[in-house]
Amino acid sequence: MNNIDFDAIDLTKEAPVTEPERQYYYIAKARKYVSEKAQEIGRNLTFCVTTFGCQMNARDSEKLVGVLELIGYKEEPDEEKADFVIYNTCTVRENANLRVYGRLGQLGAKKKKNPHMFIGLCGCMMQEPTVVEKIKKSYRFVDLIFGTHNIYKFAELIVTRFESERMVIDIWKDTDKIVEDLPSERKFSFKSGVNIMFGCNNFCSYCIVPYVRGRERSRNPKDIIREIEGLVADGVVEVMLLGQNVNSYGKNLEEPMTFAQLLQEIEKIEGLERIRFMTSHPKDLSDELIDVMAHSKKICKHLHLPVQSGSSRILQKMNRHYTKEHYLEVVRKIREAVPDISLTTDIIVGFPGETEEDFQDTLDIVRQVRYDSAFTFIYSKRTGTPAAAMEDQVPDDVVKDRFDRLLKEVQQISAEVCSVHQGTTQDVLVESVNDHDPSLMTGRMSNNLLVHFPGDESMIGKIVTVYLKEAKGFYYMGELCK
Ligand code: SAH
Ligand code: SF4
Ligand code: F3S
Repeated sequence: MNNIDFDAIDLTKEAPVTEPERQYYYIAKARKYVSEKAQEIGRNLTFCVTTFGCQMNARDSEKLVGVLELIGYKEEPDEEKADFVIYNTCTVRENANLRVYGRLGQLGAKKKKNPHMFIGLCGCMMQEPTVVEKIKKSYRFVDLIFGTHNIYKFAELIVTRFESERMVIDIWKDTDKIVEDLPSERKFSFKSGVNIMFGCNNFCSYCIVPYVRGRERSRNPKDIIREIEGLVADGVVEVMLLGQNVNSYGKNLEEPMTFAQLLQEIEKIEGLERIRFMTSHPKDLSDELIDVMAHSKKICKHLHLPVQSGSSRILQKMNRHYTKEHYLEVVRKIREAVPDISLTTDIIVGFPGETEEDFQDTLDIVRQVRYDSAFTFIYSKRTGTPAAAMEDQVPDDVVKDRFDRLLKEVQQISAEVCSVHQGTTQDVLVESVNDHDPSLMTGRMSNNLLVHFPGDESMIGKIVTVYLKEAKGFYYMGELCK
């Protein structure tokens, strides 16, 4: 992909109809427009991409950045100074939406002062027709709106905007298409997210993701392996395999393949040191996967296994397809097979109809599993989901009280669980210079915990052995082992 000579593409011809060639053509065309504009104003054009939401969106943003850099924009971390500001949005909870509207209002004022400025909106929020209506009406200054299914067309959409004076809107309801071999610019040189599937078919009753990300599609294993091999050749040692429910990977492929089988193939890639994945749905976590994890040398000792609630009654209303007992049994099996595994989770408080008794079940499962960490969320009503129409929405003050009690429990347990590794030595992937003290480096252990230790920048991207001197609750202070 990196070897394409965009200047050699003949722009007097029509755009090719096949992908990714069509996008290469539009990248070449956009380069021309960007360089003309840069000459006109006598400086480089700059961009700033802001990502809301999950790792999927973070990976999508890398694809946006890949295109922007290829067409000649330079990164500008300060949104206020950038010529092209993009919000890659999330709509999983109401407050994610509110943040976007708030910031968008401020951007409008900035645009008045910079006539070259483009504002682009994409991501999950744009898949909601009411959102697009609102932007068309109240935020007329936006230049470009597209959704989650056609992000691969980014270069083409930029060209459309350059060639018209109006707001460009392109949203698809769903797609069965996966376009390979598009550019992307990694945020980290040594680790990368890799999409293995898109969309979700689970329709948990509270969740909007299946509506905004479309039906589940798995990438071909050959394309995944080829991408990872390319990444490894480029210095990547750790990959994070991404999907809303990685455990159902491969079911709809022409030659079906399980997630566990895919992992075994990825394990064989020479030079790749670590494999992570996210997210695992408890209903589909197979014995085969547990077995592969137990025997793997590369799969990290960390499993994110969202429980959502400890009450079987609520789990049923959430359409999660497992009970409290089943979940605990999965946890028992995985701990038996991989004794030092770190478990993390997501929990929703205040789902419609949740009683104090249901909530006690959630506290109980938290106490039984003893998670290394848990993301706790207040239930947010998403229009169009079945739960939004359910009766007995729980009053705000009751939810807030439960949320506070849960958080306290989760934090206390997590501090206890995380400190058990004190005095051990661990393999650590060095990620960055410490934010507060430049003489320290920050690295990540297999179990996803961070450790800070004296070192220097040359270690970034390497796996080193570190002695864990002191547990500090959610992280460690350590010392490099010679
Ligand atoms: N596919 C992943 C989750 C993606 S969304 C999975 O099934 O585990 C990430 C988390 O957001 C979910 O695990 C859930 O805890 C939370 N979430 C989703 N919808 C929500 C809502 N309507 N209100 C509050 N939290 C929600
Ligand atoms: Fe949402 Fe459930 Fe799909 Fe996760 S599995 S994205 S919670 S519908
Ligand atoms: Fe948000 Fe979309 Fe991810 S709604 S959580 S960014 S899939």
